[in-house]
Amino acid sequence: MGLSPSSLARRAASSAGGPNGKIGGRSRMGDVTVRQLSNPRGALGRVISIVMNRRNRELIERCVDALEPRKGSSVADVGFGGGVGLRILMNRVGLTGIVSGVEPSETMRTRALKKFEDDVALDRLRIVNGSAAATSLADGSQDGIITVNTVYFWPDLAEGLDGLVRALAPEGVLAVGISPKAAQLGMGFDERAERVIEASELADAMRAAGLTRVSIAAPRGTEGRAIVRGFAA
Ligand SMILES: C[S@@+](CC[C@H](N)C(=O)[O-])C[C@H]1O[C@@H](n2cnc3c(N)ncnc32)[C@H](O)[C@@H]1O
Repeated sequence: MGLSPSSLARRAASSAGGPNGKIGGRSRMGDVTVRQLSNPRGALGRVISIVMNRRNRELIERCVDALEPRKGSSVADVGFGGGVGLRILMNRVGLTGIVSGVEPSETMRTRALKKFEDDVALDRLRIVNGSAAATSLADGSQDGIITVNTVYFWPDLAEGLDGLVRALAPEGVLAVGISPKAAQLGMGFDERAERVIEASELADAMRAAGLTRVSIAAPRGTEGRAIVRGFAA
């Protein structure tokens, strides 16, 4: 699998077939790619999820670092996609911790249930149908939540953040990973359909959602990506 989602999207953009080849501001192929990133489905969704696991692993690891998870704690990855974050979180919280993987895509949930069958059977991993705005997690239940490269697809930013904050325990940590704005546009995002967002805008929204000590980090080795972190009151 030689192409990253961004190069697929770039190839799609460059292969736009004139006025009839465009859907909104991008080509049909770009549209397919972005739709797969927002809702991975079927065989192509499974392929995209493998690419995402590779491309996003470093940023996901840094987001997990930002949670500083303790052994035995309860943590969640919301919009886990290919699921690389679930394994990293399980390793950090150990056998006594509980990891919840929240995902609206049925294809991704099914894939994770199969891939992590043993962990699910041990109830150290829970795969949940949900979204940022409606996580299905109990209020105040999570010591930490990561969500990486998902914010572009939330229907409403404030509602998504409210949903995540509701699920956090007091002093719980939220770490949101995003790509730089130029990379978001490079992936074929259309500002009319996806949220193209700067880390500073996200930080303001997180403060407005009631998170405290909100900070932005740009970890090395993540191609200019950012982690915006905040703490529940
Ligand atoms: C680009 S993928 C990122 C997957 C993974 N977090 C990563 O970084 O590799 C976006 C993921 O967000 C999920 N998603 C879409 N809308 C969402 C929402 N409203 N709340 C949470 N996740 C959502 C998609 O199903 C998809 O798995």
